[in-house]
Amino acid sequence: MTDVPEYVSANLASWDERAPVHAKSPSYAVEKFVSDPEFLSGVVRFDVPLLGDISGKNGIHLQCHIGTDTISLERLGATMTGLDFSPSALLEARSLAERTKLPTRFVHAEVYDAPTVLAGEEFDLVYTGIGAICWLPSIDRWAETVARLLRIGGQLFIRDGHPMLRALDDANARELVVRYPYFEQPDALVWDEPGTYVETDHVFTATIGHEWNHGLGEMITALISHGMRIDGLVEHDSVPWEALPGHMTLDDDGEFRLTSGRERLPLSFTVQATRIA
Ligand SMILES: C[S@@+](CC[C@H](N)C(=O)[O-])C[C@H]1O[C@@H](n2cnc3c(N)ncnc32)[C@H](O)[C@@H]1O
Repeated sequence: MTDVPEYVSANLASWDERAPVHAKSPSYAVEKFVSDPEFLSGVVRFDVPLLGDISGKNGIHLQCHIGTDTISLERLGATMTGLDFSPSALLEARSLAERTKLPTRFVHAEVYDAPTVLAGEEFDLVYTGIGAICWLPSIDRWAETVARLLRIGGQLFIRDGHPMLRALDDANARELVVRYPYFEQPDALVWDEPGTYVETDHVFTATIGHEWNHGLGEMITALISHGMRIDGLVEHDSVPWEALPGHMTLDDDGEFRLTSGRERLPLSFTVQATRIA
């Protein structure tokens, strides 16, 4: 990576430090992947009904983190490549592939550089999971990247935190209050976050994160303008992390939902699209 933007170096330092902590956390259940060859991550289990049969597909998982979702997709019969900019996340991901005896490939790249790093390789499936696109400044560049990674007829599957959820004040445990931009802004929201989303007593030194929100309409428009046909947009009343502390209940399916009035707000979404041009 040359001329690394500040948001990339800050976010990279943060993820590099968090990856080994996540790999040790029961939340990511790494040991279960090793002991049970059928085990799938909760995120992928949730996706299966919309994802359908992916066996035989050649897929790429953007922002694959420590590889638990990538390995799950491989277990569903796809041939998977995981891609991430964090060497320490990739170390964990490669170790998981080795320990589960799966041939999953992991590639080091910044998302927007993926088509160049992969030298024009084209895939049947681009998959992106929870907590990914908020680290990217431009949803249009992301959509262009996705389209360049797909063959004509190849499909995108993304489930992520809903932009309406990301616009809410997650520090207000009493009321749901809109505090942050819904629409993509040129400037990042910059956080100084001492912790992470798994329980740990690790004291982090890299605490600065740069994030962006992207409206659903902005994503759909960007995908269409890069030659993608929208096949589905589903808004869910759940999300797999405790996004609004004080307002949420953990259900048996591993998803958090609003404790009361869950019909008020979408918490995550799935978009499916096909490259047609
Ligand atoms: C929350 S994790 C991804 C989600 C996955 N659902 C999980 O929990 O395993 C976010 C990942 O995005 C990666 N990431 C963030 N910004 C990136 C960028 N610009 N290019 C490539 N990877 C990036 C981080 O290294 C991290 O592994």
